[in-house]
Amino acid sequence: MTDIQPSDQPNDALGLPARAAALDLLTAALSGRSGLDEGLSHPALQALSARDRAFARALVMATLRRLGPIDSALQSRVKKAPPDKVVQVLRLGVAQAFVLKTPAHAAVTTSVDLVAQDKGLAMFKGLVNAVLRGLLREPPELDDPELLAPSWLYARWRAVYSIEGARAIAAMIAEEPATDLSFKDPAQAAALAAELEGEVLPGGSLRTFKRGDISTWPGFAEGGWWVQDAAAAIPARLLNVKPGETALDMCAAPGGKTLQLAAAGSQVTALDRSAPRLKRVTENLARTGLSAEVVAADAANWTDKKSFDAILLDAPCSATGTFRRHPDVLWAAKPSDVAGLAAVQSKLLDAAVRRLKPGGRLVYCVCSLETEEGEGQVAAFLSRTPGVALDPIKEGEGGSPVPSLDDDGTLRILPHHAPGGLDGFYVARFRKA
Ligand SMILES: C[S@@+](CC[C@H](N)C(=O)[O-])C[C@H]1O[C@@H](n2cnc3c(N)ncnc32)[C@H](O)[C@@H]1O
Repeated sequence: MTDIQPSDQPNDALGLPARAAALDLLTAALSGRSGLDEGLSHPALQALSARDRAFARALVMATLRRLGPIDSALQSRVKKAPPDKVVQVLRLGVAQAFVLKTPAHAAVTTSVDLVAQDKGLAMFKGLVNAVLRGLLREPPELDDPELLAPSWLYARWRAVYSIEGARAIAAMIAEEPATDLSFKDPAQAAALAAELEGEVLPGGSLRTFKRGDISTWPGFAEGGWWVQDAAAAIPARLLNVKPGETALDMCAAPGGKTLQLAAAGSQVTALDRSAPRLKRVTENLARTGLSAEVVAADAANWTDKKSFDAILLDAPCSATGTFRRHPDVLWAAKPSDVAGLAAVQSKLLDAAVRRLKPGGRLVYCVCSLETEEGEGQVAAFLSRTPGVALDPIKEGEGGSPVPSLDDDGTLRILPHHAPGGLDGFYVARFRKA
C-alpha cells in the first residue's frame, strides 16, 4: 500500500504539480548516492501541499522499486533512447498506470502534459502517448526478481547466495516495508503495538504497517520510541552493555544505535565524522531525553586517548541492504564503491580495537549484502589482529533471525529472513583478550 492514493482527476490539485515534483525527485534520486534524501528535503518539494508531496514521494518510490522491469518494458517499445527527461516521464507514467493503478487516461495525459511543458521536448509528446498506450494494451510484467536489481548486483548475489537466494533477496525490492520502532523502555512496546495494530518482534522492536505522519503517533512527542529497522536494532543489543559501562558508537549518526546504548544505561560517546549528521544525533537525544557525549571526528584519526568496555562500529558501506527504504541505493551503487568502502572499514576496525579495554567487546556491522563488507572483512581483520577473537553470536540472540546465523557465529541477515522483510545486515562480535 502507498501513503496516498493517486487522484483520478488529472487536472485537480493532484495533477501536474505533483507529477512535476515527482519528475524532479526521480531525477535527483538517480543522480547519485544520497540524491533521494537531498531531493526529499529540497525546498521545491517542501513547498507543495502535503497531499501533492505525499503523492510525488509515493510515485517516485513505486518507480524506483520496479525500475529494472519498468526499463525493460520501455526498451521493448522504444527503438532509439529519447532524452533523459522523457525517459523519466515514461518511467513515472508506467509506475502510475501499473503500480499505483492511476486511471489510464490520467497516467497518459499527465505524462504527455509533462513533456509538453518543456518546449524543447514537445516533439516527444506523440512518443510518450504511443508508448504508454501500447503498454496499457499489453500490460508488462513488473515483478520479475531477475530484473528488479541492476544486473551486476544480481549476478553478485547469485554467486554468493545461490539462484534461489538471489531471487528471494531481489523479490523484496518491490515490497513496501513496514515501519519498525525501538523503545527507550521495552516494556512499553506491547501497549503501543495494540494501538498501532502492530506486533512486537522477538528482539523487542514493534512492527506496524500503519501509514501516516509518525510524529502524531502516541509516545513520539514524549520520546518513548524512535524509528529503526528491526535488523538495524540487532547489533547494539549484541553488545550487551551494562549500566555504567563505557561504550563508543564509532559511526553514530543519525543515532539509532546511540539511543539504544544510552537507553541500556551505558555512558555513550557518539562519534561521527559528519558534523551536520551529528545534529540529528543531538536532536534525537533531546527528544528521547537520553544522554551521550557527541563528538565530531574522524574515527580513524581521533586523538582522544579514552578506551572503552564496548565499541559499536556501524561502518560506512555500500548500503545495498537498505534497498527496502532506499531503492535508489541499488542504482547509485557502483562496483568500485564496494572496494573503496571495504578499505575504509578495515582502517576503522583497526582503530576500534586500539580503543578497546582488555576483555572488551566489539560489534562490527554493515547494512550491506556484499561479502567484501562482511565475511571477507572479518577474515582479514582476524588474521592481522592478534589477541582478538570472534565472540560467537548465539541462535536467536538479540532477536536475530535463526536463518541468519552462520557456522562461525556471525550474522548474515538477508532481507527475506523474517516475514515482512528486514534490512540486509552483516554482524560480527569480537572480544579482546
Ligand atoms: C551507517 S551510517 C551510521 C548509522 C548509525 N550508526 C545509526 O544507527 O543511526 C555510517 C556513518 O559513518 C560516518 N562515517 C564515515 N566515515 C567515518 C569516519 N572515518 N569516522 C567517523 N564516522 C565516519 C558517516 O558520517 C555516517 O554517519
